[in-house]
Amino acid sequence: MILELEKFHAFELAGWESIPDGYHQAFGSLTTQAIGPLLDAVRVKKGMKLLDIASGPGYIAAAAAKRGAIPLGVDFSKGMVDQAHLLYPDLDFREGDAEELPLGNGLFEAAVMNFGILHLARPEQAITEAHRVLRPGGRFAFSVWAKPEETIGFGIVLRAVEAHGEPRIELPEGPPFFRYSDAEECRQSLLLAGFTAPTVTKVAQVWRLPAGDGLFNAMKDSTVRTAGLLRAQKPTVLGKICDAMRAELAKYTKGDVVELPMPALIASAVKP
Ligand SMILES: C[S@@+](CC[C@H](N)C(=O)[O-])C[C@H]1O[C@@H](n2cnc3c(N)ncnc32)[C@H](O)[C@@H]1O
Repeated sequence: MILELEKFHAFELAGWESIPDGYHQAFGSLTTQAIGPLLDAVRVKKGMKLLDIASGPGYIAAAAAKRGAIPLGVDFSKGMVDQAHLLYPDLDFREGDAEELPLGNGLFEAAVMNFGILHLARPEQAITEAHRVLRPGGRFAFSVWAKPEETIGFGIVLRAVEAHGEPRIELPEGPPFFRYSDAEECRQSLLLAGFTAPTVTKVAQVWRLPAGDGLFNAMKDSTVRTAGLLRAQKPTVLGKICDAMRAELAKYTKGDVVELPMPALIASAVKP
């Protein structure tokens, strides 16, 4: 099990190292929609020290700085840290693992992880680490995708693979992608790590992509696990998967774009 989690961690790292710009182009306009609710959940204010965990291109850190906070972004992918420095040259980003933060105890008043937790081999350890680096009274908030029945982009690709391809391919096995799409799972995990007063809310988000193969391309070129699933399909079935996705997308198409509902859960809690 430990070896499998190590493999999963290495698989995720290699994946993220290869797609910083693609991720920014395909997902940036979507994942930034959760920033307002996350920063509100940790009650960001001027002068507050905030840790952006799994910071990717640095969106949370940048928005927190705009609200007057003092952010630090940490991500295990050097490519992502470089991308964040490129986009926000005045901000502080460092390489570091969410499961073992290279930071002392009690340094921050707020910690935020935007769509990071579902990529971790040991998410419980990362929640415990967030707790450790917070001061008493500090707040932690994370976002995850709602279930694939509601996050239409995921639902469409997963159904197409199920119908035409091989959904059970050999990839390094990590925790279930939609584990924290369950509000009770979020609350219990936060309580287990020592947080109190956990709350979970749902926010509406819309993903705008080029019509046609925009969703297929985004999933194949700008994700890690879903890309692994698509790349492992036989070339002969990939065309069928693409066609099935295009057919399902018809009802979300407006001119040359598709507009996909992609709601997120925002979980937050306080360090006593
Ligand atoms: C879906 S992206 C989210 C990026 C960004 N937070 C946003 O708002 O769009 C996931 C990020 O988590 C990072 N990540 C995955 N596992 C990690 C780990 N164990 N430690 C630190 N960062 C990690 C990836 O490198 C990637 O930048």
